[in-house]
Amino acid sequence: MTITTNKQKLIIFDTTLRDGEQSPGVTLTVSEKIEIAKQLSRLGVDVLEAGFPVASQGDFDAVQRIATEVGPLMIGREATGTPMRIAGLARAVPADIQRCYDAIASAPSKRIHTFLATSDIHLQHKLKISRDECVVRAVAAVSFAKTLVDDVEFSPEDAGRSDQDFLCQVLSAVIEAGATTLNIPDTVGYNMPEEYGAMIKYLIANTKGSDKVIWSAHCHNDLGLATANTLSGIMNGIRQVEVTINGIGERAGNTAMEEIVMAVHTHPDFFPVYHTINTPLFFRISQLVSSLSGMVVQPNKAIVGANAFLHESGIHQDGVLKNKTTYEIISPETVGANTINLVLGKHSGRAAFRSRLHELGFGELTEAELQIAFTSFKALADSKKRVTEQDLVALLSDQMSSTAGDKATYVVKSLQVVSGTSFATATVQLENTVTGEVSVEAAIGKSGPIEAIFRTIQRLINRRIRLLKFDITAVGEGIDALGQVSVKIAEDDGASSDEESVGTSSDIMAKATYHGHGADSDIIQAATRAYLNAINRLVANESERLLGERKVPV
Ligand code: KIV
Ligand code: ZN
Repeated sequence: MTITTNKQKLIIFDTTLRDGEQSPGVTLTVSEKIEIAKQLSRLGVDVLEAGFPVASQGDFDAVQRIATEVGPLMIGREATGTPMRIAGLARAVPADIQRCYDAIASAPSKRIHTFLATSDIHLQHKLKISRDECVVRAVAAVSFAKTLVDDVEFSPEDAGRSDQDFLCQVLSAVIEAGATTLNIPDTVGYNMPEEYGAMIKYLIANTKGSDKVIWSAHCHNDLGLATANTLSGIMNGIRQVEVTINGIGERAGNTAMEEIVMAVHTHPDFFPVYHTINTPLFFRISQLVSSLSGMVVQPNKAIVGANAFLHESGIHQDGVLKNKTTYEIISPETVGANTINLVLGKHSGRAAFRSRLHELGFGELTEAELQIAFTSFKALADSKKRVTEQDLVALLSDQMSSTAGDKATYVVKSLQVVSGTSFATATVQLENTVTGEVSVEAAIGKSGPIEAIFRTIQRLINRRIRLLKFDITAVGEGIDALGQVSVKIAEDDGASSDEESVGTSSDIMAKATYHGHGADSDIIQAATRAYLNAINRLVANESERLLGERKVPV
Protein backbone atom coordinates (compact mmCIF):
# COMPACT_ATOMS: atom_id res chain seq x y z
CA MET A 1 0.00 0.00 0.00
CA THR A 2 1.31 3.43 -0.90
CA ILE A 3 0.20 6.43 1.13
CA THR A 4 1.98 9.65 0.31
CA THR A 5 0.49 12.66 2.02
CA ASN A 6 0.62 15.15 -0.86
CA LYS A 7 -1.26 12.75 -3.10
CA GLN A 8 -4.98 12.21 -3.44
CA LYS A 9 -6.71 8.94 -2.76
CA LEU A 10 -7.70 6.93 -5.82
CA ILE A 11 -11.23 5.64 -5.20
CA ILE A 12 -11.60 2.04 -6.36
CA PHE A 13 -15.12 1.42 -7.68
CA ASP A 14 -15.59 -2.27 -8.45
CA THR A 15 -18.20 -3.32 -11.00
CA THR A 16 -17.37 -7.05 -11.23
CA LEU A 17 -20.91 -7.91 -10.10
CA ARG A 18 -22.59 -5.53 -12.56
CA ASP A 19 -20.56 -4.83 -15.73
CA GLY A 20 -18.46 -7.96 -15.06
CA GLU A 21 -21.56 -10.09 -14.78
CA GLN A 22 -22.59 -8.79 -18.21
CA SER A 23 -19.81 -10.94 -19.71
CA PRO A 24 -21.38 -13.41 -22.15
CA GLY A 25 -22.33 -16.64 -20.36
CA VAL A 26 -21.70 -15.37 -16.83
CA THR A 27 -24.63 -15.92 -14.47
CA LEU A 28 -23.70 -15.74 -10.81
CA THR A 29 -26.08 -16.94 -8.14
CA VAL A 30 -27.02 -14.70 -5.25
CA SER A 31 -24.77 -16.60 -2.82
CA GLU A 32 -21.83 -16.49 -5.25
CA LYS A 33 -22.31 -12.73 -5.55
CA ILE A 34 -22.37 -12.37 -1.78
CA GLU A 35 -19.13 -14.34 -1.46
CA ILE A 36 -17.40 -12.20 -4.09
CA ALA A 37 -18.74 -9.03 -2.43
CA LYS A 38 -17.29 -10.15 0.94
CA GLN A 39 -13.90 -10.73 -0.64
CA LEU A 40 -14.02 -7.34 -2.39
CA SER A 41 -14.79 -5.72 0.95
CA ARG A 42 -11.72 -7.37 2.52
CA LEU A 43 -9.69 -6.32 -0.50
CA GLY A 44 -10.43 -2.73 0.48
CA VAL A 45 -12.69 -1.74 -2.44
CA ASP A 46 -14.16 1.70 -1.75
CA VAL A 47 -17.38 1.46 -3.76
CA LEU A 48 -19.03 -1.75 -4.92
CA GLU A 49 -21.55 -1.64 -7.75
CA ALA A 50 -23.56 -4.63 -6.58
CA GLY A 51 -25.89 -4.87 -9.58
CA PHE A 52 -28.70 -3.39 -11.61
CA PRO A 53 -31.73 -3.89 -9.34
CA VAL A 54 -34.47 -3.19 -11.87
CA ALA A 55 -33.11 -5.83 -14.28
CA SER A 56 -34.78 -8.77 -12.54
CA GLN A 57 -36.02 -9.95 -9.16
CA GLY A 58 -32.79 -11.94 -8.84
CA ASP A 59 -30.63 -8.86 -9.41
CA PHE A 60 -32.71 -6.93 -6.89
CA ASP A 61 -32.39 -9.70 -4.28
CA ALA A 62 -28.63 -9.92 -4.78
CA VAL A 63 -28.13 -6.17 -4.34
CA GLN A 64 -30.43 -6.08 -1.32
CA ARG A 65 -28.65 -8.97 0.39
CA ILE A 66 -25.22 -7.50 -0.34
CA ALA A 67 -26.37 -4.15 1.09
CA THR A 68 -27.62 -5.86 4.26
CA GLU A 69 -25.03 -8.61 4.75
CA VAL A 70 -21.82 -7.14 3.29
CA GLY A 71 -22.47 -3.39 3.54
CA PRO A 72 -21.74 -3.21 7.31
CA LEU A 73 -18.63 -5.47 7.30
CA MET A 74 -15.38 -3.93 8.51
CA ILE A 75 -13.12 -7.04 8.41
CA GLY A 76 -9.85 -6.19 6.67
CA ARG A 77 -10.84 -2.57 6.09
CA GLU A 78 -8.32 -1.00 8.47
CA ALA A 79 -6.64 1.00 5.69
CA THR A 80 -9.90 2.49 4.43
CA GLY A 81 -11.48 2.88 7.89
CA THR A 82 -14.99 2.99 6.40
CA PRO A 83 -17.47 0.35 5.27
CA MET A 84 -17.63 -0.41 1.56
CA ARG A 85 -20.13 1.90 -0.14
CA ILE A 86 -22.83 -0.11 -1.94
CA ALA A 87 -23.97 1.29 -5.28
CA GLY A 88 -26.74 0.18 -7.59
CA LEU A 89 -27.16 1.06 -11.27
CA ALA A 90 -30.32 2.71 -12.60
CA ARG A 91 -31.37 4.11 -15.98
CA ALA A 92 -32.40 7.76 -15.86
CA VAL A 93 -36.05 6.95 -15.14
CA PRO A 94 -37.85 7.28 -11.77
CA ALA A 95 -38.96 3.63 -11.53
CA ASP A 96 -35.37 2.37 -11.95
CA ILE A 97 -34.03 4.88 -9.46
CA GLN A 98 -36.67 4.04 -6.86
CA ARG A 99 -36.03 0.29 -7.31
CA CYS A 100 -32.30 0.90 -6.98
CA TYR A 101 -32.83 2.84 -3.77
CA ASP A 102 -35.08 0.10 -2.33
CA ALA A 103 -32.32 -2.45 -2.98
CA ILE A 104 -29.46 -0.47 -1.40
CA ALA A 105 -31.45 1.19 1.40
CA SER A 106 -30.14 -1.02 4.22
CA ALA A 107 -26.43 -0.36 3.47
CA PRO A 108 -24.77 1.98 5.96
CA SER A 109 -23.04 3.71 3.05
CA LYS A 110 -24.83 3.88 -0.31
CA ARG A 111 -24.86 5.43 -3.77
CA ILE A 112 -27.26 5.60 -6.70
CA HIS A 113 -25.50 5.43 -10.08
CA THR A 114 -27.73 6.67 -12.90
CA PHE A 115 -26.81 6.86 -16.57
CA LEU A 116 -28.07 8.29 -19.84
CA ALA A 117 -26.45 8.19 -23.27
CA THR A 118 -25.12 11.48 -24.65
CA SER A 119 -23.57 10.57 -28.01
CA ASP A 120 -25.53 11.59 -31.12
CA ILE A 121 -25.36 7.95 -32.27
CA HIS A 122 -27.19 6.81 -29.14
CA LEU A 123 -29.55 9.80 -28.97
CA GLN A 124 -30.66 9.41 -32.59
CA HIS A 125 -30.72 5.65 -33.01
CA LYS A 126 -31.31 4.20 -29.55
CA LEU A 127 -33.17 6.76 -27.46
CA LYS A 128 -34.63 8.81 -30.35
CA ILE A 129 -34.51 12.02 -28.33
CA SER A 130 -32.96 15.46 -28.90
CA ARG A 131 -29.95 16.82 -27.03
CA ASP A 132 -32.27 19.20 -25.14
CA GLU A 133 -34.45 16.30 -24.01
CA CYS A 134 -31.32 14.46 -22.91
CA VAL A 135 -30.34 17.34 -20.60
CA VAL A 136 -33.87 17.49 -19.16
CA ARG A 137 -33.90 13.72 -18.46
CA ALA A 138 -30.42 13.70 -16.92
CA VAL A 139 -31.26 16.57 -14.57
CA ALA A 140 -34.60 15.00 -13.59
CA ALA A 141 -32.92 11.68 -12.83
CA VAL A 142 -30.18 13.18 -10.67
CA SER A 143 -32.66 15.47 -8.87
CA PHE A 144 -34.90 12.53 -8.04
CA ALA A 145 -31.98 10.33 -6.90
CA LYS A 146 -30.81 13.21 -4.72
CA THR A 147 -34.13 13.13 -2.82
CA LEU A 148 -33.26 9.53 -1.82
CA VAL A 149 -29.49 9.58 -1.15
CA ASP A 150 -26.71 12.15 -0.76
CA ASP A 151 -24.29 10.31 -2.99
CA VAL A 152 -25.37 10.33 -6.64
CA GLU A 153 -23.18 9.31 -9.57
CA PHE A 154 -24.06 10.24 -13.14
CA SER A 155 -22.64 8.58 -16.28
CA PRO A 156 -23.07 10.02 -19.78
CA GLU A 157 -23.08 6.70 -21.61
CA ASP A 158 -20.85 6.59 -24.72
CA ALA A 159 -19.06 9.74 -23.53
CA GLY A 160 -16.05 8.62 -25.55
CA ARG A 161 -17.97 9.32 -28.80
CA SER A 162 -20.02 12.30 -27.53
CA ASP A 163 -19.60 15.92 -28.53
CA GLN A 164 -17.43 17.35 -25.76
CA ASP A 165 -19.15 20.75 -25.53
CA PHE A 166 -22.52 19.01 -25.23
CA LEU A 167 -21.01 16.77 -22.54
CA CYS A 168 -19.92 19.89 -20.61
CA GLN A 169 -23.49 21.21 -20.87
CA VAL A 170 -25.01 17.97 -19.51
CA LEU A 171 -22.37 17.58 -16.80
CA SER A 172 -22.70 21.22 -15.60
CA ALA A 173 -26.46 20.69 -15.35
CA VAL A 174 -26.23 17.46 -13.34
CA ILE A 175 -23.70 18.99 -10.93
CA GLU A 176 -26.21 21.78 -10.36
CA ALA A 177 -28.86 19.08 -9.73
CA GLY A 178 -26.68 17.46 -7.04
CA ALA A 179 -24.46 14.82 -8.68
CA THR A 180 -21.38 14.10 -6.57
CA THR A 181 -19.43 11.82 -8.94
CA LEU A 182 -19.22 12.21 -12.72
CA ASN A 183 -18.20 9.01 -14.47
CA ILE A 184 -16.94 9.26 -18.05
CA PRO A 185 -17.49 5.95 -19.88
CA ASP A 186 -15.71 4.92 -23.02
CA THR A 187 -18.60 2.52 -23.43
CA VAL A 188 -17.45 0.90 -26.66
CA GLY A 189 -13.70 0.98 -25.98
CA TYR A 190 -13.09 3.41 -28.86
CA ASN A 191 -10.72 6.00 -27.38
CA MET A 192 -6.92 6.22 -27.60
CA PRO A 193 -5.08 6.91 -24.32
CA GLU A 194 -4.02 10.48 -25.24
CA GLU A 195 -7.53 11.17 -26.55
CA TYR A 196 -9.24 9.89 -23.37
CA GLY A 197 -6.85 11.85 -21.13
CA ALA A 198 -7.35 15.03 -23.19
CA MET A 199 -11.13 14.59 -22.99
CA ILE A 200 -10.98 14.34 -19.18
CA LYS A 201 -8.80 17.46 -19.04
CA TYR A 202 -11.20 19.35 -21.32
CA LEU A 203 -14.29 18.30 -19.36
CA ILE A 204 -12.78 19.28 -16.02
CA ALA A 205 -11.68 22.64 -17.41
CA ASN A 206 -15.00 23.47 -19.08
CA THR A 207 -17.70 22.03 -16.78
CA LYS A 208 -19.27 24.43 -14.30
CA GLY A 209 -18.70 23.27 -10.72
CA SER A 210 -16.17 20.61 -11.78
CA ASP A 211 -14.10 21.18 -8.62
CA LYS A 212 -17.07 20.08 -6.45
CA VAL A 213 -17.25 16.54 -7.84
CA ILE A 214 -15.11 13.42 -8.14
CA TRP A 215 -14.24 12.56 -11.75
CA SER A 216 -14.35 8.88 -12.59
CA ALA A 217 -13.05 6.72 -15.48
CA HIS A 218 -14.95 3.75 -16.91
CA CYS A 219 -13.17 2.16 -19.87
CA HIS A 220 -13.87 -0.89 -22.00
CA ASN A 221 -11.17 -3.01 -23.58
CA ASP A 222 -12.31 -3.42 -27.20
CA LEU A 223 -8.94 -2.18 -28.50
CA GLY A 224 -6.98 -3.60 -25.55
CA LEU A 225 -6.55 -0.06 -24.19
CA ALA A 226 -8.80 0.00 -21.11
CA THR A 227 -5.90 0.10 -18.63
CA ALA A 228 -3.89 2.63 -20.67
CA ASN A 229 -6.95 4.88 -21.06
CA THR A 230 -7.78 4.74 -17.35
CA LEU A 231 -4.18 5.56 -16.38
CA SER A 232 -4.19 8.44 -18.85
CA GLY A 233 -7.40 9.63 -17.16
CA ILE A 234 -5.67 9.54 -13.76
CA MET A 235 -2.89 11.76 -15.11
CA ASN A 236 -5.56 14.27 -16.16
CA GLY A 237 -7.69 14.51 -13.03
CA ILE A 238 -9.52 11.19 -12.59
CA ARG A 239 -9.82 10.24 -8.89
CA GLN A 240 -12.16 7.24 -9.15
CA VAL A 241 -11.63 4.24 -11.41
CA GLU A 242 -14.38 1.80 -12.38
CA VAL A 243 -12.84 -1.63 -12.70
CA THR A 244 -13.45 -5.36 -12.49
CA ILE A 245 -11.41 -8.28 -11.18
CA ASN A 246 -9.52 -9.97 -14.06
CA GLY A 247 -10.97 -7.27 -16.36
CA ILE A 248 -14.13 -9.31 -16.97
CA GLY A 249 -17.04 -7.48 -18.53
CA GLU A 250 -19.19 -6.80 -21.57
CA ARG A 251 -17.51 -7.96 -24.86
CA ALA A 252 -13.70 -7.56 -24.46
CA GLY A 253 -14.17 -6.58 -20.84
CA ASN A 254 -13.57 -3.63 -18.52
CA THR A 255 -10.41 -2.17 -17.02
CA ALA A 256 -8.76 -4.75 -14.72
CA MET A 257 -8.54 -3.55 -11.12
CA GLU A 258 -5.30 -5.39 -10.41
CA GLU A 259 -3.57 -3.69 -13.36
CA ILE A 260 -4.53 -0.16 -12.32
CA VAL A 261 -3.73 -0.68 -8.64
CA MET A 262 -0.37 -2.31 -9.35
CA ALA A 263 0.57 0.39 -11.88
CA VAL A 264 -0.06 3.02 -9.20
CA HIS A 265 1.65 0.82 -6.60
CA THR A 266 4.86 0.34 -8.60
CA HIS A 267 5.04 4.03 -9.63
CA PRO A 268 4.34 5.96 -6.43
CA ASP A 269 6.29 8.97 -7.69
CA PHE A 270 4.73 9.03 -11.12
CA PHE A 271 0.99 9.06 -10.40
CA PRO A 272 -0.65 11.89 -8.40
CA VAL A 273 -2.68 9.33 -6.38
CA TYR A 274 -2.34 6.56 -3.79
CA HIS A 275 -4.52 3.50 -3.15
CA THR A 276 -5.63 1.59 -0.03
CA ILE A 277 -6.09 -1.87 -1.55
CA ASN A 278 -4.84 -5.03 0.24
CA THR A 279 -2.83 -6.16 -2.78
CA PRO A 280 -1.80 -9.60 -1.34
CA LEU A 281 -5.44 -10.66 -1.76
CA PHE A 282 -5.37 -10.13 -5.54
CA PHE A 283 -4.37 -13.64 -6.57
CA ARG A 284 -6.99 -15.31 -4.43
CA ILE A 285 -9.86 -13.11 -5.46
CA SER A 286 -8.81 -13.46 -9.08
CA GLN A 287 -9.10 -17.24 -8.75
CA LEU A 288 -12.41 -17.02 -6.95
CA VAL A 289 -13.94 -14.77 -9.63
CA SER A 290 -12.51 -16.96 -12.37
CA SER A 291 -13.91 -20.14 -10.80
CA LEU A 292 -17.34 -18.75 -10.06
CA SER A 293 -17.76 -16.86 -13.32
CA GLY A 294 -16.25 -19.57 -15.52
CA MET A 295 -14.07 -16.89 -17.17
CA VAL A 296 -10.65 -18.52 -17.29
CA VAL A 297 -7.69 -16.18 -16.66
CA GLN A 298 -5.25 -16.30 -19.60
CA PRO A 299 -1.86 -17.59 -18.37
CA ASN A 300 -0.03 -14.47 -19.55
CA LYS A 301 -2.53 -12.08 -17.93
CA ALA A 302 -0.71 -9.23 -16.17
CA ILE A 303 -0.52 -9.52 -12.35
CA VAL A 304 -2.79 -12.58 -11.86
CA GLY A 305 -1.96 -14.90 -14.78
CA ALA A 306 -0.34 -18.26 -13.96
CA ASN A 307 2.81 -17.20 -15.87
CA ALA A 308 2.97 -13.64 -14.50
CA PHE A 309 5.87 -14.53 -12.18
CA LEU A 310 7.52 -17.42 -14.05
CA HIS A 311 10.94 -16.98 -15.60
CA GLU A 312 11.53 -19.42 -18.43
CA SER A 313 14.74 -18.36 -20.14
CA GLY A 314 18.08 -19.34 -18.61
CA ILE A 315 19.39 -15.78 -18.65
CA HIS A 316 16.34 -14.55 -16.74
CA GLN A 317 16.46 -17.41 -14.24
CA ASP A 318 20.11 -16.75 -13.62
CA GLY A 319 19.42 -13.04 -13.08
CA VAL A 320 16.54 -13.67 -10.68
CA LEU A 321 18.63 -16.14 -8.66
CA LYS A 322 21.34 -13.49 -8.29
CA ASN A 323 18.92 -10.70 -7.50
CA LYS A 324 15.13 -10.80 -7.93
CA THR A 325 14.88 -7.19 -9.07
CA THR A 326 16.81 -7.99 -12.27
CA TYR A 327 13.63 -9.31 -13.91
CA GLU A 328 10.86 -8.78 -11.33
CA ILE A 329 9.14 -5.41 -10.98
CA ILE A 330 6.66 -6.80 -8.44
CA SER A 331 7.40 -9.51 -5.90
CA PRO A 332 4.90 -12.42 -6.12
CA GLU A 333 4.04 -11.97 -2.41
CA THR A 334 2.81 -8.42 -3.06
CA VAL A 335 -0.13 -9.82 -5.04
CA GLY A 336 -0.40 -13.15 -3.19
CA ALA A 337 1.04 -15.20 -6.05
CA ASN A 338 3.35 -17.29 -3.84
CA THR A 339 1.52 -20.49 -4.69
CA ILE A 340 3.84 -23.13 -3.25
CA ASN A 341 2.74 -22.03 0.18
CA LEU A 342 2.10 -25.20 2.25
CA VAL A 343 -1.01 -24.51 4.25
CA LEU A 344 -2.25 -27.76 5.76
CA GLY A 345 -1.41 -31.42 5.79
CA LYS A 346 -3.50 -34.55 6.16
CA HIS A 347 -3.11 -34.52 9.93
CA SER A 348 -4.55 -31.02 10.31
CA GLY A 349 -7.69 -30.87 12.40
CA ARG A 350 -10.96 -29.03 11.96
CA ALA A 351 -9.91 -26.04 14.09
CA ALA A 352 -6.76 -25.41 12.04
CA PHE A 353 -8.77 -25.86 8.86
CA ARG A 354 -11.44 -23.42 9.98
CA SER A 355 -8.86 -20.83 10.98
CA ARG A 356 -7.05 -21.15 7.62
CA LEU A 357 -10.33 -20.70 5.76
CA HIS A 358 -10.99 -17.65 7.87
CA GLU A 359 -7.66 -16.15 6.82
CA LEU A 360 -8.53 -16.91 3.21
CA GLY A 361 -11.77 -14.98 3.54
CA PHE A 362 -14.20 -17.89 3.83
CA GLY A 363 -14.93 -17.12 7.46
CA GLU A 364 -18.69 -17.13 7.42
CA LEU A 365 -19.32 -20.76 6.46
CA THR A 366 -22.11 -22.52 8.35
CA GLU A 367 -21.26 -25.66 10.35
CA ALA A 368 -22.75 -27.84 7.59
CA GLU A 369 -20.76 -26.05 4.87
CA LEU A 370 -17.60 -26.30 6.94
CA GLN A 371 -18.13 -30.03 7.34
CA ILE A 372 -18.51 -30.55 3.58
CA ALA A 373 -15.38 -28.47 2.95
CA PHE A 374 -13.44 -30.36 5.63
CA THR A 375 -14.41 -33.73 4.17
CA SER A 376 -13.27 -32.64 0.69
CA PHE A 377 -10.04 -31.28 2.16
CA LYS A 378 -9.32 -34.58 3.95
CA ALA A 379 -9.95 -36.52 0.73
CA LEU A 380 -7.60 -34.19 -1.13
CA ALA A 381 -4.94 -34.31 1.58
CA ASP A 382 -5.01 -38.12 1.34
CA SER A 383 -4.21 -38.06 -2.35
CA LYS A 384 -1.94 -35.03 -2.47
CA LYS A 385 1.26 -34.27 -0.61
CA ARG A 386 0.90 -30.50 -0.40
CA VAL A 387 -2.43 -28.73 -0.05
CA THR A 388 -1.88 -25.12 -1.06
CA GLU A 389 -3.95 -21.96 -0.75
CA GLN A 390 -4.84 -22.30 -4.41
CA ASP A 391 -6.21 -25.80 -3.76
CA LEU A 392 -8.36 -24.53 -0.92
CA VAL A 393 -9.74 -21.66 -2.99
CA ALA A 394 -10.51 -24.12 -5.82
CA LEU A 395 -12.23 -26.55 -3.41
CA LEU A 396 -14.29 -23.83 -1.78
CA SER A 397 -15.35 -22.26 -5.07
CA ASP A 398 -16.28 -25.71 -6.33
CA GLN A 399 -18.38 -26.24 -3.23
CA MET A 400 -20.07 -22.87 -3.67
CA SER A 401 -20.69 -23.55 -7.34
CA SER A 402 -22.09 -27.02 -6.92
CA THR A 403 -24.57 -26.02 -4.26
CA ALA A 404 -24.96 -22.71 -6.16
CA GLY A 405 -26.45 -21.31 -2.98
CA ASP A 406 -29.64 -23.06 -3.92
CA LYS A 407 -30.54 -26.71 -4.06
CA ALA A 408 -29.05 -28.41 -7.11
CA THR A 409 -31.73 -30.23 -9.12
CA TYR A 410 -29.45 -33.02 -10.34
CA VAL A 411 -26.87 -34.84 -8.24
CA VAL A 412 -24.64 -37.71 -9.39
CA LYS A 413 -25.05 -40.72 -7.09
CA SER A 414 -22.51 -42.91 -8.84
CA LEU A 415 -20.31 -42.86 -11.91
CA GLN A 416 -18.44 -45.61 -13.69
CA VAL A 417 -16.29 -45.19 -16.78
CA VAL A 418 -14.52 -47.74 -18.93
CA SER A 419 -12.09 -46.25 -21.37
CA GLY A 420 -10.13 -47.91 -24.17
CA THR A 421 -8.31 -47.11 -27.40
CA SER A 422 -11.34 -46.69 -29.67
CA PHE A 423 -14.22 -45.60 -27.40
CA ALA A 424 -15.32 -45.19 -23.80
CA THR A 425 -18.49 -46.18 -21.94
CA ALA A 426 -20.02 -44.32 -19.03
CA THR A 427 -22.70 -45.45 -16.60
CA VAL A 428 -24.22 -42.71 -14.47
CA GLN A 429 -26.74 -42.88 -11.65
CA LEU A 430 -28.44 -39.52 -11.23
CA GLU A 431 -30.84 -38.22 -8.60
CA ASN A 432 -33.44 -35.59 -9.34
CA THR A 433 -33.70 -33.86 -5.94
CA VAL A 434 -37.00 -32.20 -6.84
CA THR A 435 -38.88 -35.42 -7.68
CA GLY A 436 -36.71 -37.76 -5.62
CA GLU A 437 -36.33 -40.03 -8.65
CA VAL A 438 -33.04 -41.92 -9.13
CA SER A 439 -32.26 -43.26 -12.61
CA VAL A 440 -29.38 -45.03 -14.35
CA GLU A 441 -28.23 -44.78 -17.98
CA ALA A 442 -25.19 -45.63 -20.06
CA ALA A 443 -23.74 -44.24 -23.29
CA ILE A 444 -20.69 -44.49 -25.50
CA GLY A 445 -18.30 -41.67 -26.32
CA LYS A 446 -16.22 -41.99 -29.48
CA SER A 447 -13.80 -39.30 -28.39
CA GLY A 448 -13.34 -40.61 -24.86
CA PRO A 449 -14.76 -40.81 -21.33
CA ILE A 450 -15.88 -37.19 -21.01
CA GLU A 451 -18.02 -37.38 -24.14
CA ALA A 452 -19.46 -40.66 -22.82
CA ILE A 453 -20.42 -39.08 -19.49
CA PHE A 454 -21.92 -35.97 -21.07
CA ARG A 455 -24.00 -38.06 -23.47
CA THR A 456 -25.21 -40.24 -20.60
CA ILE A 457 -26.25 -37.21 -18.55
CA GLN A 458 -28.17 -35.80 -21.52
CA ARG A 459 -30.10 -39.05 -21.80
CA LEU A 460 -30.83 -39.06 -18.09
CA ILE A 461 -32.22 -35.53 -18.07
CA ASN A 462 -33.83 -36.01 -21.48
CA ARG A 463 -32.47 -32.76 -22.96
CA ARG A 464 -30.15 -31.84 -25.80
CA ILE A 465 -27.29 -29.76 -24.54
CA ARG A 466 -24.57 -28.12 -26.63
CA LEU A 467 -21.11 -27.83 -25.16
CA LEU A 468 -19.76 -24.42 -26.16
CA LYS A 469 -16.58 -24.40 -24.13
CA PHE A 470 -14.51 -26.89 -22.15
CA ASP A 471 -11.39 -25.75 -20.32
CA ILE A 472 -9.24 -27.73 -17.97
CA THR A 473 -6.42 -26.31 -15.88
CA ALA A 474 -4.20 -27.80 -13.21
CA VAL A 475 -4.16 -25.97 -9.89
CA GLY A 476 -0.48 -25.96 -8.96
CA GLU A 477 2.12 -28.47 -10.05
CA GLY A 478 2.68 -32.22 -9.98
CA ILE A 479 0.86 -35.41 -10.90
CA ASP A 480 -1.45 -34.97 -7.92
CA ALA A 481 -2.52 -31.43 -8.88
CA LEU A 482 -6.17 -30.56 -8.54
CA GLY A 483 -7.90 -30.35 -11.94
CA GLN A 484 -10.22 -27.41 -12.46
CA VAL A 485 -12.77 -27.72 -15.25
CA SER A 486 -14.86 -24.90 -16.62
CA VAL A 487 -17.62 -25.47 -19.19
CA LYS A 488 -20.14 -23.34 -21.04
CA ILE A 489 -23.35 -24.89 -22.36
CA ALA A 490 -26.61 -23.93 -24.03
CA GLU A 491 -29.74 -25.89 -24.72
CA ASP A 492 -29.80 -27.23 -28.26
CA ASP A 493 -32.76 -26.27 -30.45
CA GLY A 494 -32.57 -29.60 -32.21
CA ALA A 495 -31.36 -28.17 -35.54
CA SER A 496 -28.31 -30.40 -35.41
CA SER A 497 -28.54 -33.93 -36.73
CA ASP A 498 -26.43 -35.39 -33.92
CA GLU A 499 -28.30 -37.72 -31.62
CA GLU A 500 -26.92 -35.82 -28.64
CA SER A 501 -24.98 -32.68 -29.36
CA VAL A 502 -21.67 -32.28 -27.67
CA GLY A 503 -19.95 -30.27 -30.40
CA THR A 504 -19.96 -26.48 -30.78
CA SER A 505 -22.22 -24.46 -33.06
CA SER A 506 -22.20 -20.79 -34.05
CA ASP A 507 -26.00 -20.38 -34.24
CA ILE A 508 -26.16 -21.22 -30.54
CA MET A 509 -24.46 -17.92 -29.69
CA ALA A 510 -27.81 -16.13 -29.68
CA LYS A 511 -29.14 -18.45 -26.94
CA ALA A 512 -28.76 -18.16 -23.19
CA THR A 513 -25.52 -19.77 -22.11
CA TYR A 514 -24.58 -21.16 -18.71
CA HIS A 515 -21.20 -21.84 -17.22
CA GLY A 516 -20.26 -24.57 -14.81
CA HIS A 517 -17.26 -25.23 -12.66
CA GLY A 518 -15.81 -28.29 -10.97
CA ALA A 519 -12.58 -29.10 -9.15
CA ASP A 520 -11.25 -32.51 -8.17
CA SER A 521 -7.94 -34.34 -8.22
CA ASP A 522 -9.68 -36.76 -10.64
CA ILE A 523 -10.33 -34.77 -13.81
CA ILE A 524 -13.19 -37.05 -14.90
CA GLN A 525 -15.01 -36.18 -11.67
CA ALA A 526 -14.14 -32.50 -12.10
CA ALA A 527 -15.57 -32.52 -15.64
CA THR A 528 -18.76 -34.27 -14.51
CA ARG A 529 -19.30 -31.75 -11.71
CA ALA A 530 -18.70 -28.82 -14.04
CA TYR A 531 -21.18 -30.16 -16.63
CA LEU A 532 -23.86 -30.87 -14.04
CA ASN A 533 -23.24 -27.52 -12.36
CA ALA A 534 -23.96 -25.76 -15.67
CA ILE A 535 -27.08 -27.89 -16.23
CA ASN A 536 -28.31 -27.10 -12.73
CA ARG A 537 -27.91 -23.38 -13.48
CA LEU A 538 -29.87 -23.79 -16.71
CA VAL A 539 -32.67 -25.59 -14.88
CA ALA A 540 -32.67 -23.11 -11.99
CA ASN A 541 -32.80 -20.16 -14.38
CA GLU A 542 -35.76 -21.69 -16.20
CA SER A 543 -37.75 -21.99 -13.02
CA GLU A 544 -36.63 -18.49 -12.00
CA ARG A 545 -35.00 -19.88 -8.89
CA LEU A 546 -31.65 -18.42 -9.92
CA LEU A 547 -31.67 -14.78 -10.98
CA GLY A 548 -35.02 -14.58 -12.69
CA GLU A 549 -35.35 -13.57 -16.29
CA ARG A 550 -33.43 -10.44 -17.07
CA LYS A 551 -36.01 -7.94 -18.29
CA VAL A 552 -33.84 -4.89 -18.89
CA PRO A 553 -30.72 -5.01 -21.03
CA VAL A 554 -27.97 -2.52 -20.07
O1 KIV B 1 -20.01 1.16 -20.29
C1 KIV B 1 -20.90 1.92 -19.85
O2 KIV B 1 -21.22 2.96 -20.43
C2 KIV B 1 -21.56 1.53 -18.62
C3 KIV B 1 -22.43 2.57 -17.98
C4 KIV B 1 -23.70 1.99 -17.51
C5 KIV B 1 -21.66 3.26 -16.89
O3 KIV B 1 -21.35 0.45 -18.12
ZN1 ZN C 1 -19.47 -0.42 -18.93
